[in-house]
Amino acid sequence: MAELTSTGTPGAEPAGGTPPRTAPADGAPKRPGLDADDRPASGTGGRPRVRWWRRPWVGPLAVVATAFLAFSLPPYLSLDPSLSRVPLEGSFAAYYPMLVAHVLFGAVAMVACGLQIWPWFRKRYPVAHRRIGRVYVLGGVLPAGALGLVVGALSPFGPMTRVSNVMLAALWLACTVAGFRAARRRRFADHRRWMIRSFALTFSIITNRVWGVIAMIVLMPQAETVFGGSDIAFMQTVSGLAAWLGWTTSLLLAEWWLERGGAAGRRRTPASARG
Ligand code: HEM
Repeated sequence: MAELTSTGTPGAEPAGGTPPRTAPADGAPKRPGLDADDRPASGTGGRPRVRWWRRPWVGPLAVVATAFLAFSLPPYLSLDPSLSRVPLEGSFAAYYPMLVAHVLFGAVAMVACGLQIWPWFRKRYPVAHRRIGRVYVLGGVLPAGALGLVVGALSPFGPMTRVSNVMLAALWLACTVAGFRAARRRRFADHRRWMIRSFALTFSIITNRVWGVIAMIVLMPQAETVFGGSDIAFMQTVSGLAAWLGWTTSLLLAEWWLERGGAAGRRRTPASARG
């Protein structure tokens, strides 16, 4: 992003201001609170190195995101409305083009977000982190979120899903813009917190699909009883549960991660100072 430091990396900072610059003795930036793991790769200085097995989420996240995009994108890349997985009957003329645009910008956001959240990439390519950050916000979240607001409010999956879609799109836009503004103001601790929330919401589209499958499996035996054999009631319930559970559980997980200080916080805080 435009105003990130030479590390391009969010770290903790003293409340209410930019951390003072201190002279680098070994070529590595010595900013108060800068996560050792997030410093650039240049220089040695005996810094603690975080081994790959301390990041057990990086590989699985990449695999899951790739699988999701490989499954989700092709029908929309064809630009053939008959292949849409979202029913189009009764929708207005611009709905399908808006849905396709949303899917494409959403894919940009997901790929960019995956790179931004990857500690090794941030540390190794700080300039790319700033550039991809702009792509994430301006070429991914803003257009995908704005389109998500419209297609979300008009979702064919019923009122529960519509309200969830609008809430998710609004929160996604708000968290991402807050993270972007924090970076431009060099408030990197705030930047980190908002972007972790933004990341959770970006990838919540995947947990949404997982909850959808779980809801369908759990509710299927009740299709004839609780739902009285109504396909519409069944599908709207499954979709509504998936929509709400997808982003609320992801956001709660992100808040839990932030509250416990995350990996960075734990390494910075001496054991004696922890509760
Ligand atoms: C996080 C904010 C997001 C919101 C609010 C949102 C909203 C929506 C809405 C409303 C729909 C139409 C289905 C419906 O009416 O319920 C949709 C479809 C879709 N979205 Fe998003 N979306 C978001 C993020 C993403 C991301 C990051 C991607 C990544 C590629 C994505 C990919 C898709 C795809 C592929 C569809 C078509 C449905 C399907 O084929 O499964 N969305 N989205």
